[in-house]
Amino acid sequence: MHCVQEVTPQIFWVGGNDRRLERFENMFPLPHGVAYNSYLIMDEKTALMDTVDSAISALFLENITHVLNGRQLDYLVINHMEPDHCANIEELVRRYPEVKIVGNKKTFQFIGQFYQAPLQKNFYAVQEGDELSLGRHTLKFFFAPMVHWPEVMLTYEQSERILFSADAFGTFGALSGNLFSDQADFEAVYLEEARRYYANIVGKYGMQVQTALQKLSGVEIRMICPLHGPVWRSNLSYILDKYDHWSKYLPEKNGVVLIYASMYGNTENAMNVLAAKLSQKGLSDLRMYDVSKTHPSYIIADAWKYSHLVFGAPTYNMGLYFVMEALLRDMAGLQLQNRQVALVGNYTWAPGVVVKALRGLVEGMKNMEIIAPPFEINSAMKPEQEPALDQLAEAICASVRQLG
Ligand SMILES: Cc1cc2nc3c(=O)[nH]c(=O)nc-3n(C[C@H](O)[C@H](O)[C@H](O)COP(=O)(O)O)c2cc1C
Ligand SMILES: [Fe+2]
Ligand SMILES: [Fe+2]
Repeated sequence: MHCVQEVTPQIFWVGGNDRRLERFENMFPLPHGVAYNSYLIMDEKTALMDTVDSAISALFLENITHVLNGRQLDYLVINHMEPDHCANIEELVRRYPEVKIVGNKKTFQFIGQFYQAPLQKNFYAVQEGDELSLGRHTLKFFFAPMVHWPEVMLTYEQSERILFSADAFGTFGALSGNLFSDQADFEAVYLEEARRYYANIVGKYGMQVQTALQKLSGVEIRMICPLHGPVWRSNLSYILDKYDHWSKYLPEKNGVVLIYASMYGNTENAMNVLAAKLSQKGLSDLRMYDVSKTHPSYIIADAWKYSHLVFGAPTYNMGLYFVMEALLRDMAGLQLQNRQVALVGNYTWAPGVVVKALRGLVEGMKNMEIIAPPFEINSAMKPEQEPALDQLAEAICASVRQLG
């Protein structure tokens, strides 16, 4: 049975949800599932905005057949060639042999790479700023290269002022019937997942997101239709502001995330003592993670949110405990920057090794300020080290307060 929703009287959501997939990109846990959105515009000409992942192809094709109600599909706009959105291009051409596939040079290059079938005869190439009239509706194409793939386009529908935004403004988390963000409790249900999606999938491309936001700054947008998660029809400034912060690598909140690795609990103990001191000194909303327990995507999401990060780790085979090393390399790869940092190291026979490794990785990232001398433990923290840890706690508090 088809399952579609009206976005506006002539535009229909024809996507679907996947709550079974364990990990997005075989990497990121999906405790709340994921939505693959696709939108069908019914005008004098019909136009489909992107397709969906192969996991939901059957329902998707049923949805399209239902909405088209015997009509032909005239245009298939490919805003993004990642397989979670383009799994059905070949099948749509089989069903609608006359369909024009709207994309740019890179889109068509990628179609050639992913598909066997010769689809060139269906290609309809557009340039930045081109317009395509469907009747009452007119599409205008903005290129957004590397948000987060090179071929990405944003398609703006001029009559209803709707932005089809590809992965931008998307989130993990399936739709629970409510298609619009103002029907869902967005902050409670989606915000954390939206941040985790942004930081881990798009995080590296802050500059390109800024360029895209600038391009759109003169365009009046009434609705944002992303490829994942709810549609925005009200309070657009809320999500635009989040994107502005995230892509400028500006923290949303002054606060501390404590991130540790520990085999036998001694580094963990020192981090707990430090966190208790921070709390006693008045810092609230502290976050703490064990890197061996929590998937890095969640830790990275909080690193995007908060201003201060404390990393604590033991020495391992004359280096840094590798789960922590992997996390820091992940953060560096995603270009996390502009954070205040404190370091805690632990060793049994090799002093200085782990704090040096932590420092090296942190200093390899842009605008990361190490706000105090590292705190080092020799196997287990001793009471006589308390004043030194107090000093570190004081330095962290002062730095948080300084931000206001
Ligand atoms: C497999 C392994 C390798 C280690 N390699 C080193 C090392 O190269 N240098 C060192 O000083 N300590 C090394 N250690 C010791 C730990 O860093 C040290 O015991 C630390 O206190 C562990 O902290 P934890 O209780 O938070 O796990 C190693 C420990 C293990 C289990
Ligand atoms: Fe994507
Ligand atoms: Fe996607």
